[in-house]
Amino acid sequence: MNKYAANRNLVIAIDGPAGAGKSTIAKKLAKKLAILYLDTGAMYRAVGLNILEAGRDPADPLDVLPLLDHMDIAVRYENGLQAVYLNGRNVTDKIRTQQVSGAASAVAVLPEVRKKLVNLQREIASNVSLVMDGRDIGTYVLPNADIKIFLTASPKERTRRRWKELRENGEDPDYDDIRKEIAERDRNDSNRSFAPLKKAEDALLIDTTNKAIDEVVNEIEGLIQVQRR
Ligand code: DC
Repeated sequence: MNKYAANRNLVIAIDGPAGAGKSTIAKKLAKKLAILYLDTGAMYRAVGLNILEAGRDPADPLDVLPLLDHMDIAVRYENGLQAVYLNGRNVTDKIRTQQVSGAASAVAVLPEVRKKLVNLQREIASNVSLVMDGRDIGTYVLPNADIKIFLTASPKERTRRRWKELRENGEDPDYDDIRKEIAERDRNDSNRSFAPLKKAEDALLIDTTNKAIDEVVNEIEGLIQVQRR
């Protein structure tokens, strides 16, 4: 029997470091396929924001863990777009700052934080077709995903994209600060012992440095068609 029968849910895992193009590509792909898109980074960002707002240190487990049980992180879809709620408050726009990026990466090291969010991610993925992006989706969250993609781009290009994104969000970021922040996050995300950022053995590696978004989306779509044949 065809593993990818038409009535079976389609699960696509996209991983990679900050600025590799994950969210732009995953969002566009999900829209084209008319399936759900789940940005898991937004959940870690919501945890990071909660810790910062409480005046605590995201890098200190003793500051983070006591708050975790009282933290309600939820994802809702509003007009087809993902919204993230922290204790009933929509924080979708608040989580896109540089400070929250660093806090998200710091809290993401803690297995307790990851387990809480991974449960939610698996629950969302349990009965729908979707594109999920993050750092550990192909290796840990959804090891049986139908399609696994690992996106990369040169550090220079990733810094440029992140700089542009922050500018578009009304911030005035310093290019060199972003370069350092990305390098720090790469280190943090790749070196943690629990579910680090890593390409799954069966993931297709795509370097997006010199590729247009549509080119990558089409490449992944082509892969799905081949798999479904
Ligand atoms: O994708 P992003 O830049 O919004 O993610 C923010 C941080 O959250 C990232 O630096 C590491 C963490 N993260 C993670 O550890 N695992 C995921 N699946 C997604 C994000």
